[in-house]
Amino acid sequence: MKILLISNSARGEAIAEALLRSQPTPELFVASTVRSLGLMRMAKEVQVMDIDSLAKVVQMAKGIKPDFAFIAPDDPIGAGLADRLECVGVPCVAPKKTLARIEASKGFARNLMKKYGIEGNPRFRVFSFSSMDAKRQLDLDMRHYMEYELKGQYVVKYDALKGGKGVKLSGEHLSTIDSSAQYAMECIDQCGTVVIEEKLIGVEFSLLSFVSGTATVDMPAVQDHKRAHDDDIGANTGGMGTYSDSNHSLPFLTEEDLKAASAFNCRIAAALLEECGEPYKGILYGGFIATKDGVKVIEYNARFGDPEALNVLPLLETDFVSVCQAILKGTLTPDLVRFAAKATVCKYITPKSYPEDKKEKGQTVLVPEKIPENVRVFYGDVSMLDTGTLQLGGSRSIGVVGIGDTLHDAEQAAQAFCEKITGPVRFRSDIGTVESIQKRVDLMQKLRRP
Ligand code: AMP
Ligand code: GLY
Repeated sequence: MKILLISNSARGEAIAEALLRSQPTPELFVASTVRSLGLMRMAKEVQVMDIDSLAKVVQMAKGIKPDFAFIAPDDPIGAGLADRLECVGVPCVAPKKTLARIEASKGFARNLMKKYGIEGNPRFRVFSFSSMDAKRQLDLDMRHYMEYELKGQYVVKYDALKGGKGVKLSGEHLSTIDSSAQYAMECIDQCGTVVIEEKLIGVEFSLLSFVSGTATVDMPAVQDHKRAHDDDIGANTGGMGTYSDSNHSLPFLTEEDLKAASAFNCRIAAALLEECGEPYKGILYGGFIATKDGVKVIEYNARFGDPEALNVLPLLETDFVSVCQAILKGTLTPDLVRFAAKATVCKYITPKSYPEDKKEKGQTVLVPEKIPENVRVFYGDVSMLDTGTLQLGGSRSIGVVGIGDTLHDAEQAAQAFCEKITGPVRFRSDIGTVESIQKRVDLMQKLRRP
């Protein structure tokens, strides 16, 4: 069995590692943006390339003739790599372009939910303009919507892929109505539309599902930490770290919350089939927020989360290749998927100036050779030179995952290993700590109080 993996980050290494635990062991070929240490060790072949050049990936696939491809990142999925590969006879665990709009267009996702009666949207409007004359009126309309209809509590969303960095919140990244209107107009100038929506208050979590048409099988729920610094301060990033609990729920969620999130994923898969006329085959990532009024949808992604994949894939006890084949054949059933009852904490090592700058690019990072049994290390934007030196790129560098019977054990394992990594890097010490999790539990209790 030959598998082609398209990877741009540590998430790709987690996928590779899970695929290679399958029996019989498949041969793995990787198109990767970086010369990643883990991929070099695991794969039969790694071709370093610009994976957004779809033609190059297709050319590689034609040479390998894999049984299937697994596309990890959002950009090639959004650009239609699955369509291109399927044209040359390579089935893909990733949705086609029209289905991937669930992630690539936040307006599409909100309108899909509205059209199919899937509750869980905040109040929202998608703004666009058709002529320059309308620009002033549009500016006034957006200001009115933000100031009066949403009462100053709003979120402005770039309506295309932007690596989790196109979203700005009132009172945090947008301090005045002028700067908000200006950002909204910039979004329209760049991608034609902007989504402005109600700012929800609550605690966020991710629930990812394997999807094949209308069949969905959930993974353990995960909580990501998007802000750059401890105590959830600073710019939004791709995700600084994550945790998952041994019962596959999260300490601040009720059973109903988890059921609601699961039902959203199921209904979205069904709505996509109806809307697009073809089945979604891949990973569906629901980004949710538990609020005083129940679970609401923050966003949908058409792929594994990064770092969410680093939490859940090491816990997958069943055969990942069989899961992928079932997704492709339309035979996905819950019995094919079982996760270990363990807690995980992932902390991302990043360059010191991430995400604002890339000042440390090209500098060296040192990682201990000996990795404890309860720790997994996945390399992201770090290149391995011929000398064996590990060189930082500008983006998230190394995902360190601690695994344990409790969140506390998992956190301690991840923290201890992160502290041993040296170079011009940093990480969030607060992720997965008892104090940090208690804060979320307390907030949810306060919000739920009548
Ligand atoms: P997204 O790319 O849509 O996941 O947005 C990035 C981050 O912005 C989310 O993880 C949230 O922290 C925040 N966010 C997005 N939409 C909302 C919303 N409607 N209310 C509150 N926060 C939001
Ligand atoms: N962890 C956030 C994402 O993958 O989009």
